[in-house]
Amino acid sequence: MRTIAVVARKGGSGKTTLAFHLAMAAKIRDRKVLLADIDPQRSASETCRHRIKNPPDFAETSGSKLFALQMATRRNGGELLIIDTAAGSDEETASAIVLADLCVMVVRPTFLDLAAAIQTTDMVRRLRKPVIAVLNQAPSPRTGVEPPTVTRALKALEILRLPVAPVILRSRTIYQTALESGMSAEECEDALASGEIGQLVDFIFRLVLSGKG
Ligand SMILES: Nc1ncnc2c1ncn2[C@@H]1O[C@H](COP(=O)(O)OP(=O)(O)O)[C@@H](O)[C@H]1O
Ligand SMILES: [Mg+2]
Repeated sequence: MRTIAVVARKGGSGKTTLAFHLAMAAKIRDRKVLLADIDPQRSASETCRHRIKNPPDFAETSGSKLFALQMATRRNGGELLIIDTAAGSDEETASAIVLADLCVMVVRPTFLDLAAAIQTTDMVRRLRKPVIAVLNQAPSPRTGVEPPTVTRALKALEILRLPVAPVILRSRTIYQTALESGMSAEECEDALASGEIGQLVDFIFRLVLSGKG
């Protein structure tokens, strides 16, 4: 069984959106998955409750209970444990990072997100865990050219020596509307969104399941 912790010190970066999409993607791909929600706001759990058909298994829990949950998930034949963490809650987030095979750090291409990424990177490195950054809510390229905010963010992540996922999630309303009904953008008609999120989750699963993550 592999564990993915979705982290970022900054609120609103897209942790819950990505954690839910990872859990749904695992389900769609017939993998036995549990989404552990350690954010007291319980947004991931709320999203799962909104889903009518086949919601992913989820648990409302906390950092101190994660180890027992991970053991139980392994005993029950779980293949993937996805942990959605809260912003700014370092101790709780550290409990998730310690148990993770891979940390997925969600970063928007903004100055404040990048500043917060420095601190999250520090924490992940102190705990000696593999990490991959995902750029989220990025503006789309215009005539094939990345907007300067995106190239600047990629440069900043390179300076931090943070590996960046090869797929960038763009700012799209579908990520907001899909979650309202507990849907994954992969299940929606928007080919651009379902294409990018599908490629991203496949990349993350390959990374973590190959053991390189
Ligand atoms: N790629 C995206 N495009 C547009 N809106 C997004 C995207 N990713 C997340 N959002 C929206 O941004 C807000 C914050 O996302 P959320 O996943 O709750 O962040 P966090 O869990 O890090 O606080 C939500 O309203 C969500 O729907
Ligand atoms: Mg959240």
